[in-house]
Amino acid sequence: MATAAVAGTGFIGPVHVEALRRAGVSVRGILGASPEESRRAADALGLAIAYGSYEDVLRDTAVDSVHLATPNKLHLSMATAALEAGKHVVCEKPLAMTSAETAQLVTLAQRHPQQAAAVNYNIRFYPLIHHARDLVQSGEIGQVYSVRGGYIQDWLLYDTDWNWRLLPEEGGDLRAIGDIGTHWMDLIHFITGLRAEQLVADLGILIPIRKMPRKAVATFKGKEQHAEPVEYDPVKIRTEDWGSVLFRYASGARGAMSVSQATAGRKNRLDFEIAGSKSTLAWNSERPNELWVGHRDRPNEIVMKDPSLMSEGGRAIAGQPGGHAEGFSDTFKQLFRTFYDYIAAGNFNAPRPYPTFEDGHQEAVLCERILASQREGRWVEVQS
Ligand SMILES: NC(=O)c1ccc[n+]([C@@H]2O[C@H](COP(=O)([O-])OP(=O)(O)OC[C@H]3O[C@@H](n4cnc5c(N)ncnc54)[C@H](O)[C@@H]3O)[C@@H](O)[C@H]2O)c1
Repeated sequence: MATAAVAGTGFIGPVHVEALRRAGVSVRGILGASPEESRRAADALGLAIAYGSYEDVLRDTAVDSVHLATPNKLHLSMATAALEAGKHVVCEKPLAMTSAETAQLVTLAQRHPQQAAAVNYNIRFYPLIHHARDLVQSGEIGQVYSVRGGYIQDWLLYDTDWNWRLLPEEGGDLRAIGDIGTHWMDLIHFITGLRAEQLVADLGILIPIRKMPRKAVATFKGKEQHAEPVEYDPVKIRTEDWGSVLFRYASGARGAMSVSQATAGRKNRLDFEIAGSKSTLAWNSERPNELWVGHRDRPNEIVMKDPSLMSEGGRAIAGQPGGHAEGFSDTFKQLFRTFYDYIAAGNFNAPRPYPTFEDGHQEAVLCERILASQREGRWVEVQS
């Protein structure tokens, strides 16, 4: 099995470390924004090496793969350097800041066919998502007529909530759509294969001025830190808190997505409803071990995550028997297991069973078309 190193010690870097270990991949060390940050994280996670720099990671010949859990603006340079250094790469989403950057990474990955390059669209790796995909692909729900749903959070509800994602130069021109809407669009494409041909968007900056704390706040930690007295500077916000997008897919199907990072009480909820000519599938990430199947002429069903009740695809990524809930961290484990099994098999001509740089590029294209629709106030075509 390969040996990995992780860059990023914030919210999601440690999730990578834990999931890698649970997937049977050894983690050699971790890199933060400074040697001290690397050391703190290495100690907390029981890792042997606290890297002093990214160059040290890439020079480490014992490292086969690099996981990038750093802010979005660093993904292009770090993924490029990793591929050029001969490492496999798992890059957090979004793959990069613009479609020009993601296209560059797709070309580079194609020039390194013996290296695996994935984007961490982890939500695909809930067992019932693979099961839903098998149901749709085998024609069980009939022709897909429409999809709807979204991704809703509350961690940026107050004007005192702050994160680097709020700044376009750090996170990209789209925020709620880029950060979480891309998970929804990727998931719908993964399950149904639908390709958007046209879209129209309405984006809203609901909190136009935010208070930027003079001291940095960790991702998702703002809510816990409100009690402390903090000094702020006012900042005019240029990225959306809310977005609604309508899609016309190539098949004639229609779609509607809403995203929000300012909806009190919705902690982190992705949901979808995929309506077919025979049945409908509905799922949400707050109850990830249940898939609702709706019928018109007989009672509706709820499928529990249980290997004995799921398709081969769902069964393959279920880690525990029915009744034993699986969640967010398990999706990372299953994606990584899929990625490293592919590498271990050594056949790089085989179809890639994980989200690829092409998938990351497709999301960047969609984001830019959404922004164009918002700026021009009209339906736009989607080309990749
Ligand atoms: N797939 C998911 O579910 C998911 C969830 C959260 C975040 N993400 C993605 O993961 C990435 C990181 O997000 P986060 O929420 O963990 O952010 P974060 O701010 O909590 O952590 C970012 C980390 O990167 C480190 N860093 C900054 N500059 C660095 C550098 N030059 N070299 C090495 N490390 C550096 C920071 O010190 C920090 O440890 C983002 O791209 C985000 O979109 C994905």
